[in-house]
Amino acid sequence: MKTKLYTSALVALTLAGGALLQSMAIAEETNPIIAERQAVMKALKDGMGSLGGMAKGSIEFNDTQAQAALDLMKNATANIAATFETNALSQTSESAPAIWENWSDFVAKADDLDFALEGWDVTSLDALRAGMGNVGATCSACHKAYRIKKN
Ligand code: HEC
Repeated sequence: MKTKLYTSALVALTLAGGALLQSMAIAEETNPIIAERQAVMKALKDGMGSLGGMAKGSIEFNDTQAQAALDLMKNATANIAATFETNALSQTSESAPAIWENWSDFVAKADDLDFALEGWDVTSLDALRAGMGNVGATCSACHKAYRIKKN
């Protein structure tokens, strides 16, 4: 009787452990191809976060920092096509399969972002504010077509 109880407790523990491991795998992307493209997107978010903060006034405008954020975004954008090229999906990936059915349109949308970034003058707060919407619109245009928000 004692052994039986012990065994079922062990089974329950093992099951709980397995479930925990599984939920960790869902939260953390393990496919390096997908992790890399998500890192590119996170760099865009970080750059946009700094510049957006300056535009709103929650971060003090600083032209060196603004230029660094813009450069970060330009470098990330240059890597969009290469990091999305492989058709791979996972539970954490928010990529829509339509990306690989409309690859040239997807790349064109990355080029639109690149073009908007090239034209973005962040040397003054007024210029930074003036270009913000233009850049943000290119993020949204691609997300609307090719990103499936999961949470
Ligand atoms: C050419 C298309 C395209 C453009 C342009 C684009 N994105 Fe994305 N973005 C995607 C796709 C597709 C995903 C889903 C990636 C995945 O999870 O596989 C994504 C995901 C993201 C994520 C979530 C990343 C994560 O950790 O899962 C953020 C944040 C993001 N984008 C921010 C931005 C910002 C900010 C811009 C503009 C400055 C931008 N994106 C421009 C296609 C694009």
